[in-house]
Amino acid sequence: MSGSKINVAKQAINFLENKLSEKMIIGIGTGTTVNFFIEELKTYKHRFDGVVSSSDRSSAILKDAGIKVYELNGVNDIAFYIDGADEVSEDYSLIKGGGGAHTREKIVASASNHFICIVDKSKLVKNLGAFALPIEVIPESRSLVSRKILSLGGIPTYRQGFVTDQGNQIIDVTNLDLQNPLEVEYQINGIAGVVDNGIFAINKPKTVLVSD
Ligand code: 5RP
Repeated sequence: MSGSKINVAKQAINFLENKLSEKMIIGIGTGTTVNFFIEELKTYKHRFDGVVSSSDRSSAILKDAGIKVYELNGVNDIAFYIDGADEVSEDYSLIKGGGGAHTREKIVASASNHFICIVDKSKLVKNLGAFALPIEVIPESRSLVSRKILSLGGIPTYRQGFVTDQGNQIIDVTNLDLQNPLEVEYQINGIAGVVDNGIFAINKPKTVLVSD
């Protein structure tokens, strides 16, 4: 499995190599696949300006690698955003948030000009939904959101002991009908107390790189 993740991280570097430029800012996702990408990116750190990171975990790894990390509020333009996913459907809709970082990941993805998703082929699915959908919630609203999810037919499980970078909690939801992911992304985000959910149908990747 890690061989596949290293392989797709190398594919992403090959894709980017001749597009890097001195003033370029790159968005960086979160997760084990992205960690391999950061390892590859290290060698090229003098060929771009810096990055915007989607999590405290990735920021720490990037800083250790000697890569400059900017706050999103401090940059105008993010050329590329590179991130993994938990599921990728045939139309490039995603489920993300297995690592609980999907809220900031979605923000950085939407701020970038070109979202490149990097996955091994085990993440490819016909339709989304086998992977439990992560929903970040304001702690006080966890029970309320869980009841609303039950009324939509979903089965919510509280991710015990996990706190997001924003100080919130995660509910992982199974049994939802995700045949129309765009609609469900909007519907869940319309529930009071939801910060964001892990469906990426509004912000789909432009490029999906896959390894065996
Ligand atoms: C984190 C994510 C990750 O991209 C997703 O969980 C995939 O992780 P990995 O590369 O470790 O398989 O969405 O919130």
